[in-house]
Order: sequence, then structure tokens, then C-alpha cells
Amino acid sequence: MRVPQSQDPDSQDPDSQDPDPQGPESQDKAVADHYVAYPYPARDPADEGKRLIEGSPSRLAEVEHYLFQGRLPSPFRVLVAGGGTGDGAIQLAQHMASRGVEGEVVWLDLSPASRAVAEARAGVRGLNNIRFVQGSLLEAKALVGGDFDYVDCCGVLHHLDAPEAGLAALKAVLKPAGGMGVMVYGALGRRGVYDMQEMAETLAPTDLAPEQRLAIGQRLFKDLPPSNWLRRNPFVRDHLDGGEAGFYDLLLHARDRAYTVRDFIALAASASMSVVSFIEPARYDPAAYLTDPKLLATISALSPQDQAIFAERLAGNMTTHVAYLADVARAGEATAQASDLQWVPVLRDPETRDALANTARSGKLVADTMGVKLTRSLPRRAPAILRRVDGVFALSAILRDIQAADAGLTEDAFLRDFQALFRGLNGLNLMWLRRAD
Ligand SMILES: C[S@@+](CC[C@H](N)C(=O)[O-])C[C@H]1O[C@@H](n2cnc3c(N)ncnc32)[C@H](O)[C@@H]1O
Repeated sequence: MRVPQSQDPDSQDPDSQDPDPQGPESQDKAVADHYVAYPYPARDPADEGKRLIEGSPSRLAEVEHYLFQGRLPSPFRVLVAGGGTGDGAIQLAQHMASRGVEGEVVWLDLSPASRAVAEARAGVRGLNNIRFVQGSLLEAKALVGGDFDYVDCCGVLHHLDAPEAGLAALKAVLKPAGGMGVMVYGALGRRGVYDMQEMAETLAPTDLAPEQRLAIGQRLFKDLPPSNWLRRNPFVRDHLDGGEAGFYDLLLHARDRAYTVRDFIALAASASMSVVSFIEPARYDPAAYLTDPKLLATISALSPQDQAIFAERLAGNMTTHVAYLADVARAGEATAQASDLQWVPVLRDPETRDALANTARSGKLVADTMGVKLTRSLPRRAPAILRRVDGVFALSAILRDIQAADAGLTEDAFLRDFQALFRGLNGLNLMWLRRAD
């Protein structure tokens, strides 16, 4: 792994004009050159007419659930830091426009080539709620001001010389009651990636042009023996599926580090922030994997953080960590809780509602998450509730509708069943809550 070299002040010549080829300045230049040559992820603006790319972090309803107790502030001010070719900014701006949410999305990135792609995508969609600012997130306050409700920073912090400084710069532009959606690389799931980066550095140092480095890296990849860990790792795919930009980003990055859950929690803490939730929550719960009751009893006594650390080691497949963060003072209260009937359940994929309701008749839902089957048990009334979830009806209306056929159903029994259903689906990040208006 390319970890920034620690600086020994005594060994530095302050007047030297030649940046250390391994040093932060040289790496900064290599990272900037990289995203000019290969804007990432590669996107064709014309595709905006055909589909919207959606994902975590930063689906609007997901942000509302995890960070704003089910009700977005209005107006809603968003910063997408290291916005790249626009996936996060386009998703957020489109969701806001479709829902009529007032506010703006500010895209901030160093790369002019990525800006051109992101702006063209917004143009195809006719979105006029995105402002584009070119520059470093380390200077966010000077470039874009403060008072953001939400900051998206997906796949960026791990490319900085000092990720803690990056997170601190973003925290400084966030309102105290705001939150962040962050993605960093996962150390255990990326086994083999850093061996390949080290070898590529030997054969294709970062002072070569990006095109030359790509050609050499591709030749090396073709020649890897079958025993090589990258070859054997089925969880990383960008070099296979992501075109030249994906290959370069994964295997030829000039500065790239990965985080264990423990390291990531420490990174958040460096900015006085806590993890509100990892996505998907069940993947960070050892109970989703283990069946041995004695082991489970011991593990259930651990703190949620230690359970997440344990789950990462158990699963071994976490190539990234996606998490919502908030200031330590409000992280425990940021997320909506299904406490009464004034909540509107929202399905992540509304078009799957009827299929989900049918599956729920078996009393369980089995999801394949990167080679592991996670089983969620569902309550008896799950199908009846699910069939009535439309993202508009509050639980009170759903209860009334079910009571028309089941007059004996009490509010308490209904709420217990809904809470069990919610635990099952939310664990897989399939259902969120919005506060009824
Ligand atoms: C892997 S891409 C991720 C892009 C985008 N967030 C996404 O999820 O698709 C990393 C991006 O971070 C940008 N970047 C790197 N260092 C930066 C900095 N200091 N300030 C702003 N952007 C930066 C790069 O230019 C690049 O577009």
C-alpha cells in the first residue's frame, strides 16, 4: 500500500526544488494527473437519458432516515466533496428535484475533466440545483462557505495525504445538526490490491505518464500467477468491470489507503464524529453470520463498535465501508426510530414491494451480500404490512387498513410486528422511515 512517507524534518532540504518522488507533493501531482487522464468513474452523459445511478451513501430518503430523524431540513444544503464525474451530486440533485426539496448541491473537486463530465450529466437532466466549484476540499470553507446540512464524501478521504485534515475541513463547513455520508476503502476485502499497487510502482513509477503506467499495469495483471491474492480475490471488480478508469483507480493509484472498521471509527473520532450507521447495518452485525448460541451470547455483550469490528473480520468481504457520521453529541439521536404510528415506511426499491411481500410469507428473507447469505426473520403480518407500504401512508393509515379485515388487531401488536419487519428490512438497508407531515 502506498502510505505517505513520514517526514523527517532534519533530512529535508527546505530549498530543494526537486520534490521527493515519494513525497506528498509528488503524490498530489500524480493524483491530480490521474483524474485528468482518467476521470473516475467513467460516465457517458448521454446515459442520463436512460437511467439514474443510485447508491449509498446519499440516496435522499436514506440520508433523511439516518441523519435527520426522518425529516430533512429545509432548505437543504449539500456539499459533495470530491464530486468526481458526478454520481453523488447527480443522485442528490435529482432526488431533491423530484421531491421538490428546496436547496442546492455544491460539487467540489480538483479535476476539470471530471467537472466537464458532471456538468454535462446535469445538463442532460436539466438540473439547475447544482453549483460546480473546482478546488481542493481542504480549502472548502474558503471556496464554498459553510453551513451545509449534509456532506457527501465518497471514495475521496483515502486518497488524501492527511485524511484527518480532510475530514476536519469538511466538519468545519457542516452545521452542528448536520451529518456526512462517507465511503472509504475496506482493508480486509481489498486483499491483493496493495501488493499489485506496490509491484506497479516498481515497474511503472508515478513519474511516467498515466497512459504508460496503465499499459505496464495491464501487462503485469495479465501475467499474474493464479496464486496471486488479487487474482484470488472475488470481491474487487473495478479492474475487470470499470474500464481503463476503473483499472487505473484500483491498481495504479498514487495514493490510496484502506481502513479497517477500527481505523475508520478512529478517523471519525479525530473530527469528533461518530458512526451513526454502517451500510448495510446487518453486514456489521456478527449475529447475521454466526449460528452458535454460545459464541453469540459472548459477542452480544460487546459494544456495537466492537461487534462491527468483529463482523468485518468474520465476513472478510468488505471492500469498502459506507457510513453515516454525525457529531458525537448528536450521533445517538440522528436516526429515525419506529417508536409510534406517525412514521411513513419507505422502501428503497418500491418496484420490488409485491415480490418482497410474497417472499415474506415464508417468514424470512435471505439476501446474498458478496458471497454470504444473510437471513432476516420476518413477523407473521409482514406480507400484509408490506403490501400497504407506498412511501406515503403513515403506519396509522396502514393499521386502519389492516384492521378493516382484522378488527382484533391492536395498536401494540401491530407496532411490534412493524418493528420486527423494520429490523429485518432495514438491516439490509431496504427500508427507511420518514416522519409523517
Ligand atoms: C475515486 S474518485 C470519487 C468520485 C466521486 N466521489 C464518486 O463517488 O464517484 C475521487 C475524486 O476525488 C477527487 N479529489 C482528490 N483529492 C481531492 C481534494 N483534495 N479535493 C477535492 N477533490 C479531490 C479526485 O479528483 C476524484 O475526482
